[in-house]
Amino acid sequence: MAAYNDLRREQLGFFPTPVHKLERLSTQLGVNLFLKRDDLTGPNLFGGNKIRKLEFLLGDALAQGADTVITFGATQSNHAMETAVAARKLGLTPLLYLETITPPDQTIDRGNILLDKILGAEITYVSMDGRTEAEADEYAMSLAVQKKAALEAAGHKVYIIPVGGATPIGSVGFAVGVQELLAQLAPAPDYIVHGTGTGGTAAGLVAGVKLYGGTHQPQVLSMNVSPKPMAHYAQTAKLATAALRLLGSELTVTAADFHFDQNYFGEGYEQPTASASAAIRLLAETEGILLDPVYTGKGFAGMLDYIHTGKIAPGSNVVFWHTGGISALFAESEMVGQLY
Ligand SMILES: Cc1ncc(COP(=O)(O)O)c(C=O)c1O
Repeated sequence: MAAYNDLRREQLGFFPTPVHKLERLSTQLGVNLFLKRDDLTGPNLFGGNKIRKLEFLLGDALAQGADTVITFGATQSNHAMETAVAARKLGLTPLLYLETITPPDQTIDRGNILLDKILGAEITYVSMDGRTEAEADEYAMSLAVQKKAALEAAGHKVYIIPVGGATPIGSVGFAVGVQELLAQLAPAPDYIVHGTGTGGTAAGLVAGVKLYGGTHQPQVLSMNVSPKPMAHYAQTAKLATAALRLLGSELTVTAADFHFDQNYFGEGYEQPTASASAAIRLLAETEGILLDPVYTGKGFAGMLDYIHTGKIAPGSNVVFWHTGGISALFAESEMVGQLY
């Protein structure tokens, strides 16, 4: 397996992203609360956590001679939109397979669908047709594999990125992100809190804490935004360990190293919750900073509950990793929920 120095990294965003204390909210909550601003990764206004992964994933795509990149997500996927941005910046053609978990507004292109179209990404909608999300993922992948074969027969070279960019190479981006954070903050935080979907970010964060955390290792608290079976924890641990191997480390991550919490996604993915809406309003009204209803709002709501119930003790140093997703504020109303 390649070591870190062999991994090709393309510059896509603006790193290090800022980290700063939320003074008013910290006073209100009785903790020292910091925000790691991956909503500002760039290269345009709608950055997010995937840019960190894509610097390494598309580095690998270029190293393999790809001219086309295929990826997957929901119709309002931030990962798909960010992949289209990154592909364009590097001269690659983006093809997106988008699952209609929330059916797109037929009257107007909203949120990330609008951005995908401005970016000229080729979109294939994958209808749910009674499939579970896992079945739809499998079906979308089968369509993409067929497309790849057809394009390669015509002389192209296609690089496929699985949903969320959840691969060891993608997670390396977040492990390196932890190193970036720890160089910015002293003392090191007691907790890093974030919203988790595919687990690629969580894997990178936990791997990064193990590798770079030294004697005071922050605990990573990962608030799920959709239901996950127990097998997900072991898979995420495998992903983290594989990322560590790419970084030249022999350390191993197990499921016990993660702290996932499935109590904050409400009815499911892309379904708004009252606590996320309240969290979005709270941060907006105390600090003037925006969260999104699908990921960061739910993650922040989980963190607030941990603080209110003492699971995060008063006086703790806490970093909430803002992973972006703001374009969802302009998505279909059933996804946005009641924000005011
Ligand atoms: C805004 C935002 N936050 C968090 C996540 C979760 O990241 P991961 O899929 O790596 O768990 C995503 C994934 O799409 C996202 O778009």
